[in-house]
Amino acid sequence: MKKKRTLGSIKNAKNREPLVMITAYDALFARLFEESADILLVGDSLNMSFAGRQDTVSATLEQMIYHTNAVCHGAKQSFVICDMPFGTYETKEKAFENAARVYRESRADAVKIEGGAEKAEIIAYLTSSGIAVCGHIGLLPQAVRGEGGYKVKGKTQEEVAGLLKDAKAVEEAGAFCMVVEGVKAEVASEIAASVSIPVIGIGAGNGVDGQVLVFSDMLGLFEEFTPKFVKQYMSGAEMIKEAVARYAAEVRERTFPAREHTY
Ligand code: KIV
Repeated sequence: MKKKRTLGSIKNAKNREPLVMITAYDALFARLFEESADILLVGDSLNMSFAGRQDTVSATLEQMIYHTNAVCHGAKQSFVICDMPFGTYETKEKAFENAARVYRESRADAVKIEGGAEKAEIIAYLTSSGIAVCGHIGLLPQAVRGEGGYKVKGKTQEEVAGLLKDAKAVEEAGAFCMVVEGVKAEVASEIAASVSIPVIGIGAGNGVDGQVLVFSDMLGLFEEFTPKFVKQYMSGAEMIKEAVARYAAEVRERTFPAREHTY
């Protein structure tokens, strides 16, 4: 049986082996991903692919705890991170209260918080209070409405300097790893080289310490749009539609259930 990752083994992976993170929202898929992935992220992206909303902003803490519980029950040997949803960590007290709720009400190993230097004080408060924190810098999906869209970061000298400052601040605040999203590849590599904790990239090229993908994107299940950085490892939507169409046809022509499916 697979050995569960620990905070220590995740930190030690830096400069040794690329880390594999994938999102999971329920027990069924978590169980399927457990063998191959190092870390399961219960991302608030579930609000889009699972709940059908336009962005992650309206995800709630209750939703995140519900899905984190399902993932933890499905994949007992996985290191599980719960994404803190928008509006649940604006002050250090609020962040602790809500992150402690995640710990109390699920078996999550860590929480993830979007934001860089401006969130450093909050991350430091959480980590010094016994909560393991994964940072998230670069393109921040929870800021999409405030910024007026999803924008790749690291295109100007000013942005690069800001990102390097963010990464250092998140590291110094005690995060055990960080996600870097939607950042020019050469800048993401520079970020990874500038900190001692693993940098997990998404849309950030191949020079970082690991990768994360949203499972419904990489399995080809989410059909609304496919970002450039996503590789589809199967055509899930097509396969599922084809299977359901065959089932429907067999019900209609009364060839299912056959004798072998009948008591
Ligand atoms: O919510 C999510 O799935 C995420 C990933 C994009 C890293 O935060």
